[in-house]
Amino acid sequence: MTGTPLDPAAKLKQQAAIQAAALVQDGMVVGLGTGSTAFFVVAELGRRVREEGLRICAIPTSNATEAQAREEGIELTGFGAHPELDITIDGADEIEPGTLNLVKGRGGALLREKIVASAAKQFVIVADSSKYVDHLGMLCPVPVEVVPFGWENVAVHLGRLGAQVTPRKMRDGSFYLTDEKNLIMDCVFGPIADPQTLGQAIHNLVGVVEHGLFIHMATQAIIAGAEGIQVLHPTASGAQKATALAPSAHTAAQGAPEHDHIARNQVVLPPQPAAEGIKKQLLVIMGVSGSGKTTIAHGLRNELGWPFQEGDDLHPAANVEKMAASIPLNDEDRWPWLASCHDWLARCKQAGTGGILTCSALKHSYRDALRKGGLDPIFIYLHTPESILLQRLKNRKGHYMPPTLLPSQLQTLEEPGADEHAMTIPAEETPAATIASILAYLKTL
Ligand code: A5P
Repeated sequence: MTGTPLDPAAKLKQQAAIQAAALVQDGMVVGLGTGSTAFFVVAELGRRVREEGLRICAIPTSNATEAQAREEGIELTGFGAHPELDITIDGADEIEPGTLNLVKGRGGALLREKIVASAAKQFVIVADSSKYVDHLGMLCPVPVEVVPFGWENVAVHLGRLGAQVTPRKMRDGSFYLTDEKNLIMDCVFGPIADPQTLGQAIHNLVGVVEHGLFIHMATQAIIAGAEGIQVLHPTASGAQKATALAPSAHTAAQGAPEHDHIARNQVVLPPQPAAEGIKKQLLVIMGVSGSGKTTIAHGLRNELGWPFQEGDDLHPAANVEKMAASIPLNDEDRWPWLASCHDWLARCKQAGTGGILTCSALKHSYRDALRKGGLDPIFIYLHTPESILLQRLKNRKGHYMPPTLLPSQLQTLEEPGADEHAMTIPAEETPAATIASILAYLKTL
């Protein structure tokens, strides 16, 4: 993997992994996670062992990681010699900011992963920002490891807990077997209101070995995104504090550091007094690149406490690559992205949480794609003159989208029409005034 150029998503994983591997010190007993992000951790630790003479021993969470660690020349140990570990570094499939509760186990290693994580003093998660969710269960099924004998009965009971249950299979139709030779039931619960209680209920089922809800286990998360790397710690209240280690591309895009920029992972926020009397809605903050969507969305989230999704983070890797190469996206490129944006809105609607999405939504037909299935998001269109946009994009650093794409975006743009549920924000309004006028409008609904 190291010899070939990395795609943008893999680069983010690698950045987070290198940052996390730096936490490992001489003499530590280290738990090695499983998955494509943990892969980079093991590679970096191997490099440090070889090049820096780092002395560690490690317990891998899967046969695959064990094989990689051996190749990297990392000394392996077991629980007999080391019943307790200093640190475990692993990936995750979903991360709830604030609590740092997780879903893990898409790679099938959840049982060993949980054992190794729970035996460590520090459990550090490495991921890219696509793993953020407002509620566990929004993106992924929860994997549940069950013994093969009587699995059909366990599946019925999991169904009674509210899951759509699918036994995991291989391409050839045979059952997927974990390293412990158990089966995995992939359980779609949708957004989970109380993961701790659900986890307990799953555990209580006879035949269940372990589940992929990792509750109150992570001590730190190192997350790489378009905005740089953020280090998160769980907070008692669930409200998340983030330490930005690199400048935010979106802050730079605004070119207005005086605006109180809010870390993007602060999704669990109490609504502020200004939000009193406002009904939960779906908001799409739209406009071309550089119009300040992220700043406005952050400000609204701060006031309203509703979940927030950066639409740019939902692009397939191929779209990101295309934009980074200055190639404008076409309709075909945008449909799958819009479908992901729509899915996010639909999940917010289903969860009744309200939701704030940034999405350029340039054409009427794109907005129709977001309205599909009876959704009625309110489009907040940030109307911004080209001269201001160009200035902001020139100042923007670290974002994959170059200013050269602006003309094609402006050509594609169809401003929201009178037939649409939309609000246009005039260019001259400051972010604070924009947020105030959106809140005032929402109060009238
Ligand atoms: C393996 O069983 C999983 O828990 C992985 O840690 C998780 O799926 C994250 O994998 P990626 O880093 O490949 O996304």
